[in-house]
Amino acid sequence: MLVFIYLSLTIFYLIMQALILAGGKGTRLRPLTVYTPKPIVPICNRPFLLYQIDTLRRAGIKDITLSLSYQPHKIEQQLGDGSDYGVHLKYTVETQPMGTAGAYKYAEDLIREPTVVFNGDILTDLDLKTVIREHTTRKATATIVLTPVENPTAYGLVETKVDGHVARFLEKPKPEEITCNTINAGTYILEPKVLDFIPAGENHSFEYGLFPNLLMRGEKFFAHISKRTYWIDIGTPTRYLQAHLDLLANRVGRIHIKERRGDFEAATIAEIDELSIVGDECTIKPGAQVINSVLGAGCYIEEKARIENSVIWAHTRVGAGAQVSSAIVGRGCHIGRSASVGAGAVLGDKTSLTDYSQTGGVSV
Ligand code: GDD
Ligand code: MG
Repeated sequence: MLVFIYLSLTIFYLIMQALILAGGKGTRLRPLTVYTPKPIVPICNRPFLLYQIDTLRRAGIKDITLSLSYQPHKIEQQLGDGSDYGVHLKYTVETQPMGTAGAYKYAEDLIREPTVVFNGDILTDLDLKTVIREHTTRKATATIVLTPVENPTAYGLVETKVDGHVARFLEKPKPEEITCNTINAGTYILEPKVLDFIPAGENHSFEYGLFPNLLMRGEKFFAHISKRTYWIDIGTPTRYLQAHLDLLANRVGRIHIKERRGDFEAATIAEIDELSIVGDECTIKPGAQVINSVLGAGCYIEEKARIENSVIWAHTRVGAGAQVSSAIVGRGCHIGRSASVGAGAVLGDKTSLTDYSQTGGVSV
């Protein structure tokens, strides 16, 4: 019992900080990220970073620095000092992106303790406390979380040794270079001493720079392989939509949607299935169908429109008889009557489609 209390105290004494890398431009998520930076794109109508803040708070970490570069004011305006979410948020803003490790170095003045670093685009139900415990008991200089994926080419492949040490990094490997299925899951625990290995004032990367350097120096660098954990990088439209479908279907172990229905108006003969999320102040007219989808606040769905497996941001109007299927529609759009928005379509904010338009994977 005493040992347990000692260990818990040690863990929370040692690990009290987090840094979220949230400065990327979100290029692959365009046009959604033209007006909304990736860290706060809505996921089931909540700014994405709130899911990461929840994960940190569950592990007892409240001192969180957001490392920003692209559209920082929008993020600060949305999240403020964190008090609404039970944490203390601080911000660092790079005048130009410094790279992942460069961003961590740039925040050096705020870093005093071992720090949990998150890539700011990972949705996961990781048990962070266990990772922290492993890092502490192994007295590691760095710990990296790995996750298995079918195709590592879009990620950083990480080879490990049987004793859990990291053996090699290969960022964005070519198909013929793939040697294993474990990739960098974008979650690290770093001792402050690694700051000394990152050059100041220049662009530097964890993946190409610091991590291979730690291996070369023979530092204690361990991997935590989380096999049964939900993990997705929301940074492409396909994965952004997939994250929604997984949350709607309750496939994300520790993350449950609390409220699927806002305060909205729906005709009695409209169909809204149990899985769908409907935001506040939406209007759903007679004969409309909302199936396995998310509607942001203030959407207006006209008669006999059908929305299926899709995400629609706030204040969008879908005209009578229009069909939206497996698509993402930005904020303040207008989809004309009988228009068809098909699989894979991604419409930026304020898009206006004239009546009978056809877009996305429409079959003739
Ligand atoms: N502050 C700051 N400054 N943040 C940055 C910068 C920068 O210069 N560059 C990138 N970021 C942030 C992004 O906002 C994102 O949250 C995170 O760092 C990772 O950048 P991505 O551009 O999304 O990288 P990736 O997805 O191609 O690859 C990374 O993530 C994979 C897991 O999804 C790598 O870490 C891979 O090794 C990893 O497998
Ligand atoms: Mg990413």
